Amino acid sequence: MHVGRVAVVTGGASGMGASICEHLARRGDRVAVLDVNGDAAQQMAENLRGRGAQAMSCSVDVSDRAAVEETLAQVRGELGPVEILVTSAAISRWEAFSEIPLDSWERVLAVNLTGTFHCLQAAIPDMVAAGWGRIVTITSSAVQIMTSNHAHYVASKGGVVALTRAVSSEYAQLGITANTIAPHIIDTPMLRQARAELGDPTGDGGASRIPVGRLGTGDDIAAACLYLCSEEASYITGQLFGVNGGAVA
Ligand SMILES: NC(=O)c1ccc[n+]([C@@H]2O[C@H](COP(=O)([O-])OP(=O)(O)OC[C@H]3O[C@@H](n4cnc5c(N)ncnc54)[C@H](O)[C@@H]3O)[C@@H](O)[C@H]2O)c1
Repeated sequence: MHVGRVAVVTGGASGMGASICEHLARRGDRVAVLDVNGDAAQQMAENLRGRGAQAMSCSVDVSDRAAVEETLAQVRGELGPVEILVTSAAISRWEAFSEIPLDSWERVLAVNLTGTFHCLQAAIPDMVAAGWGRIVTITSSAVQIMTSNHAHYVASKGGVVALTRAVSSEYAQLGITANTIAPHIIDTPMLRQARAELGDPTGDGGASRIPVGRLGTGDDIAAACLYLCSEEASYITGQLFGVNGGAVA
């Protein structure tokens, strides 16, 4: 039987973060939904509570270290020490490399990479104290395939892979695993925004270019994430876990 854990999910108000919150709550974890969109996070936590789960929401910008610390203190107070951390919060921008303004570069790195760093560093002491922890970061297939006009995003996601591996190595002997999921073309608001900006040349959102013949869903990511957060996955750490319909070998 699954032992209910305290799980923190950043970016939990939308897309795959929201699916991950739903799946964790369904299996009996106590879920903290963190998002810069506080209203949507609150709505998500209410939905989870409506289905009998223990859940809370926090409005937080993951690039703000003090706010992250404060938020995790609130989570400890309401749900208990953090045992599972999933970092799904990110922003995506499409700009030609030569035209990326410095402030755009810095913001993407601040949210996607430094935001992940803040959350990991603030949550890991709870896991060390418990001798058990599961960390799942979200990178992107964009670090594995050729992607143009996305250098800041790709650099930030490459950093997430390296950060996750480095952390996994330091905590491997303490019962804490850290893995990263690399999604590819998952049907979420972020993908729909990209389609609106870049167009949809295949007319099917890109599904025909994916070997399994469809776009990925939040549920596909949540299934992988829940496995990595399970008791059974204790021998899996430092890995990049592709969820891509076969698009990346
Ligand atoms: N959708 C895809 O095809 C795809 C592919 C590869 C990787 N990813 C990655 O998957 C993760 C989830 O993306 P998604 O598609 O579900 O996107 P999404 O836009 O639906 O969800 C991202 C969530 O992060 C939140 N967020 C943004 N900035 C934040 C900040 N500073 N602090 C706290 N929360 C913040 C947003 O409010 C939003 O709720 C992201 O890391 C994204 O880079 C997505």
